[in-house]
Amino acid sequence: MGHPAIRDHAQAGEKKMREIPIIKAALLGAGTVGGGVYQILERQKEEMPKKLGASVEIAKILVRDTKKEREGMDSALFTDNWAEIREDSGIQIVIELMGGIEPARTYILEALRAGKHVVTANKDLLAEHGRELLDTAEENGCDLMFEAAVAGGIPIIRPLKQCLAANHITEVMGIVNGTTNYILTRMTAEGMEFSQALSRASELGYAEADPTADIEGYDAGRKVAIMASIAFNSRVTFDDVYMEGITKITAADIAYAAELNMVIKLLGVAKNTGDGIEAGVYPMLLPKDHPLASVQDVFNAVFVHGDAVDDAMFMGRGAGRFPTGSAVAGDLFEIARNIRTGSTGRIHCTCYKNLRVKPVEETNSRYFLRLQVEDRPGVLAGIASVFGNNNVSIAQVIQKNKCGELAELVVITDHVLERHFKDSLLVLREMSMIKEVSAILRVYG
Ligand code: NAP
Ligand code: HSE
Repeated sequence: MGHPAIRDHAQAGEKKMREIPIIKAALLGAGTVGGGVYQILERQKEEMPKKLGASVEIAKILVRDTKKEREGMDSALFTDNWAEIREDSGIQIVIELMGGIEPARTYILEALRAGKHVVTANKDLLAEHGRELLDTAEENGCDLMFEAAVAGGIPIIRPLKQCLAANHITEVMGIVNGTTNYILTRMTAEGMEFSQALSRASELGYAEADPTADIEGYDAGRKVAIMASIAFNSRVTFDDVYMEGITKITAADIAYAAELNMVIKLLGVAKNTGDGIEAGVYPMLLPKDHPLASVQDVFNAVFVHGDAVDDAMFMGRGAGRFPTGSAVAGDLFEIARNIRTGSTGRIHCTCYKNLRVKPVEETNSRYFLRLQVEDRPGVLAGIASVFGNNNVSIAQVIQKNKCGELAELVVITDHVLERHFKDSLLVLREMSMIKEVSAILRVYG
């Protein structure tokens, strides 16, 4: 029986546990991330009530194939019928981890209209339809959270929306695609060509079966659109982002970068300038001592500059089952707390400005240009005069490699308007003394 005081205490504890509310959620998708979230919630079962004052329970899981074996998951929860979840008033949170635009968009909108809160990792959807989703969440007093949509496990959405909310943010720049960072890291460390490094990324399961979205910069472009919208309080969509991938980078470019004490990284860059937003993804030569230069392999990092915080950098794993699951589960916990305290729908769309997004031609950069040219007097002068006529100032010229009658020339410009640089290229490409334009890259600084 024990001492009456101990017994009373134990009974009170039990009663308290019994009173812990259970919040029911549904997973849409049980793939890489969905499976990870499920496992994380299992691991957190004991601590969740203490952390949240509530328990989150997965009540249903939407999949295409309900017969497929999914390790560690309760098959009794599987359904291929969305209406079962939508119509279940006991389900308060929907966690969308299917990916793609449709049916994810329709399901999220229907969930919000049914008063359900939503967590999603779907960057494709948010970068195109973010405003519609956030407006619908606000109209229905619901939470819509998407920490995992940018840079996987790295907290960046909540820091931008909440912790750094008192800043005027002028720059967000980062390595936000793990596959391409892995490829460029291997090209740098082992002198591999692009195709070799891509094969290695595929063997290790980093690159998708169709790696186009990663290597052409589209995946990073979606993340830039989302980050810029939040950082600058003005909607930037995927179509606003200028994108170049890494498919044309060669071992020769990487070697030149090393000689210049730089590395090549695929960067997502968003700037809030006095006359509009700049948003782009492109490979860039970065000094080796820049903090982003040391971000290796599949790691991601985001660098933020605000008027109050100054510089801040966030680094970690940008993809994968558990890192991404960690961000999704964090959102889920936040919503559970909000439900428990009756404070859902607190943080709505923060795009209250309507800033212009500049066309890339109006942006400024330094450029690295690698050319194969005839090896004879007057060639360099000819090239210099084209640049001069187009307002492009040259900072550095390197000539070393010779290939038969041709010489390889590398020109690095000062800061120039993209439009002026492109005008120069149009002329250079027509000149008979220039046999090939081998590489055009941006240079940081
Ligand atoms: P995944 O492994 O391909 O899993 C997708 C899941 O969704 C599968 O279980 C699939 O069911 C289900 N599904 C797809 N379409 C469906 C439909 N129409 N109806 C019902 N179920 C459907 O994808 P993932 O890698 O987990 O990615 C999920 C989301 O997270 C995507 O938006 C992705 O961009 C984002 N994300 C992923 C990562 C990552 O590291 N993987 C990182 C950051 C963000 P079946 O199993 O029956 O086919
Ligand atoms: N494919 C992405 C990457 C992960 O390689 O970083 C999902 O956002």
